[in-house]
Amino acid sequence: MLSGKKIALGVTGSIAAYKAAALVRLLVKNGAEVKVLMTTAAKQFITPLTLATLSRHPVLVEFFNPENGGWNSHVKLGLWADLVLIAPATANTIGKMACGIADNLLLTTYLSAKCPTVIAPAMDMDMYAHPAHRQNLALLRSRGVLVAEPACGELASGLQGQGRMADPEEIVRLLREFFEKKNRLSGKHFLVTAGPTCEGIDAVRFIGNYSSGKMGYAIAEELAARGARVTLVSGTVSIATKHAGVTLCKVTSAQEMYDAAVRIFPDTDGAVMAAAVADFTPERKVEGKLKRGESSLSLTLVPTKDIAAHLGSIKKANQTLVGFALEAADEYANALKKLREKNLDLIVLNSMNEAGAGFNVDTNKVYIIGKNGEQTACELKPKHEVAKDIVDRLQSLLNVES
Ligand code: CTP
Repeated sequence: MLSGKKIALGVTGSIAAYKAAALVRLLVKNGAEVKVLMTTAAKQFITPLTLATLSRHPVLVEFFNPENGGWNSHVKLGLWADLVLIAPATANTIGKMACGIADNLLLTTYLSAKCPTVIAPAMDMDMYAHPAHRQNLALLRSRGVLVAEPACGELASGLQGQGRMADPEEIVRLLREFFEKKNRLSGKHFLVTAGPTCEGIDAVRFIGNYSSGKMGYAIAEELAARGARVTLVSGTVSIATKHAGVTLCKVTSAQEMYDAAVRIFPDTDGAVMAAAVADFTPERKVEGKLKRGESSLSLTLVPTKDIAAHLGSIKKANQTLVGFALEAADEYANALKKLREKNLDLIVLNSMNEAGAGFNVDTNKVYIIGKNGEQTACELKPKHEVAKDIVDRLQSLLNVES
């Protein structure tokens, strides 16, 4: 329920702004207290009077009132709210949020808010698909902003595609789910490993892999969003996390990741091993830079330590260990074998034969396998959604309700 929840609703200039009226009604009906902020452009689509009447609070638009010299605090609502909801959120507002631009009251509220933010994008399908917009959306997601995915259908332009603002019912369902899940893992501490490891050959070269770290970062953020404290041991990646609940520990090699994981694990309620750890490392790292020669070069590689297997061997009864398996053949049997050999409680199987899954993409298709071989197939979806499924399963093992 949304009973007693304080929601600052930002409405921006999209045709979908007319749906804000139904959204405010539904939020209020669900027990929320709603205060509305609008951009000047939004007033072209729906009047402040409508939203003020439905929300039972005056609607804020401008910083200043030229008539009487009064001003609206640019940060007050952000500090008041339990959640900032921007619906509809235009490509323009999303772009400004990503860049930290603060040229209206809605944006200063977003930038000063201490609470979570949910956006419901609404725009034409080509705008939605544009790489600039996709990048802005990914950046906001990486900072913990939740996105109510727009639906496919007929758009204001008359074209068909993805870009219709999610229905008010869907947005309210998302908010209810968010508040229900929030804090379910508070008081818990998890270790998450993510990204590739780099095994040095000489001062400038290394053996690495294509892991982007996106899956592990999404899991760390999902755990933190549910109130857990997370220590994220990450190999070299180009993404960042700004979630206050996530403490980042950067490492480079498999040995460094092993040292960090072994140090952190005893103090946790469990670990999720999403890193793509190199299985081999050069026996000796060459000082300086190897010179090109006429003859071929041989490197002797020695095995690295298996971090997941070691944590499995020292795991206490009250700790839960989740691993990943990347398999090219006999996927299920190999994953189950890994789960048992490494003493894991769950294993997330990535098949190399699934399009849109695995390394360096934003989506994933996984199977979550339990100790008794029971498996759940998850459909292909964005990694932050896959993270929710994985954390739901982990949570059920901890006897915490989903
Ligand atoms: N893992 C680890 N340390 C390693 C190798 C793997 O912690 N040195 C972890 C991974 O993070 C993952 C699980 O073990 O959670 C399985 O990794 P995967 O690469 O699929 O399997 P491997 O055990 O390396 O076996 P193989 O490469 O032969 O399939």
